[in-house]
Amino acid sequence: MSDVPVLRLGSIGPDFEAETTKGPIKFSEFAAGSWVVLFSHPDDFTPVCTTELGEVARLQPEFEKRGVKVIGLSANDIASHDKWISDINEVGNVDVQFPIIGDKDRSVATAYGMLDALDKSNVDAKGLPFTVRTVFVFDPKRIIRLTLSYPASTGRQFDEIIRVIDSLQLGDKHRITTPVNWKKGEPVIIHPSVTNEEAKTLFPDFKTVKPYLRFTSEEQGKTIV
Ligand code: BEZ
Repeated sequence: MSDVPVLRLGSIGPDFEAETTKGPIKFSEFAAGSWVVLFSHPDDFTPVCTTELGEVARLQPEFEKRGVKVIGLSANDIASHDKWISDINEVGNVDVQFPIIGDKDRSVATAYGMLDALDKSNVDAKGLPFTVRTVFVFDPKRIIRLTLSYPASTGRQFDEIIRVIDSLQLGDKHRITTPVNWKKGEPVIIHPSVTNEEAKTLFPDFKTVKPYLRFTSEEQGKTIV
């Protein structure tokens, strides 16, 4: 059995020091008081990864609007990342500004459980596991609020990460949850812990579909809480 702790929703993200394309960081200092997306890709100079990192660069203003710092990671060194960034910028017509960790010794990947030796579709020429397409979203207390692992063959949908961040940030401010396929601005669900009496004050326009399924508008929660 490995003695690396399994990270779950609610775990505090382990601290680490690492080299990045923007200089050395201590993760606890980088993440302090901010939402953070830490995402790993299998390898530099690979096709799906090139499209993914270009998309993250394109979405950078959307992350910034939400107070989210983004940081990438793979088990390549900084020289490799720096060279590859030119390709990402060219292919995606973007300007990658977020840092990418050079986790050559896989120490951060190990601490975050980003390696999967069982997945034979994601190993290097020596049979060593590449980092899985992993995503961690941390809140400003460095608590893990979302985890994702995607197969090497499938590029991620980063709009979905932003959608979840919108839901989490709204749910942290107001006693609401968000329904299937919800997008920012659409009706939200009143949290089951809110009684109908409380809901009358908090969300006067609320609509009851079932006693356990009550909708309100996002705007109303904003003005009241
Ligand atoms: C890719 O980015 O295309 C890729 C990387 C590692 C394994 C398979 C695909």
